[in-house]
Amino acid sequence: MRKKIVAGNWKMNLAVNEGEKLVKSILDRLPKLKENRQVVIAPPFTHLIQTYYQTESIAYLNLGAQNCYSEASGAYTGEVSAAMLSSVGVNYVILGHSERREYFNETNAMLTKKVNRALENNLEVIFCCGEPLEIRTNDTQNEYVSKQIQEGIFQLTAEQFKSISIAYEPIWAIGTGRTATTEQAQLMHAHIRSVIADKYGVDTANKVSILYGGSCKPNNAAELFACADVDGGLIGGAALKADEFLAIINAMMHS
Ligand code: 13P
Repeated sequence: MRKKIVAGNWKMNLAVNEGEKLVKSILDRLPKLKENRQVVIAPPFTHLIQTYYQTESIAYLNLGAQNCYSEASGAYTGEVSAAMLSSVGVNYVILGHSERREYFNETNAMLTKKVNRALENNLEVIFCCGEPLEIRTNDTQNEYVSKQIQEGIFQLTAEQFKSISIAYEPIWAIGTGRTATTEQAQLMHAHIRSVIADKYGVDTANKVSILYGGSCKPNNAAELFACADVDGGLIGGAALKADEFLAIINAMMHS
């Protein structure tokens, strides 16, 4: 059975002491999860060590980063390498988030390098894809998302591909309160799985966790996670509130 994952992407929010409190309130009520159910907390870089010490004893609670640089080391002022993340106990990294693609001009070619660096350092990658509204309006989202995946991660071998999860995050649903319908999510997730099957075979495709992101909240998580090809969620706003994040984890636990 493939892994179900709820990952909290804090984006650029909370001071370290606020993050510490949030993690504490999550830990106070975190249910025990089976081996194929995982939670990831991805705070800003500055919070990683603190969060590591708070969560290291819980096997199903993983530490994630929101980005890493495409080069291994050197004169890249302000950047953080995959090896550095590994060295503070990070085991997941989110790559290709639409905010990074849009505001920091990350291209699929750049993301290929980042993914390679992450895997060299034994990080699991949550690779993000998703279309803007005009692409959805033109009904060309399948082609758009296929291209992001093909250009971003199809350089990998089938063995390497085992370290990849995908997050489908339609840009028009991020932070807008407008969630994809279960039908839209299921259709796209099935499409993504078929693109992976064409390249790596059905067995590999069936093992890839495909998460949904974009206004995933306690009131819609259960129905989204009930879709056959939705294996959890990448959560933004609701990951900043312990009650909401825990409710989404509970929805995943029972899916
Ligand atoms: P929201 O849950 O705030 O819509 O954000 C989704 C997201 O971008 C997670 O990476």
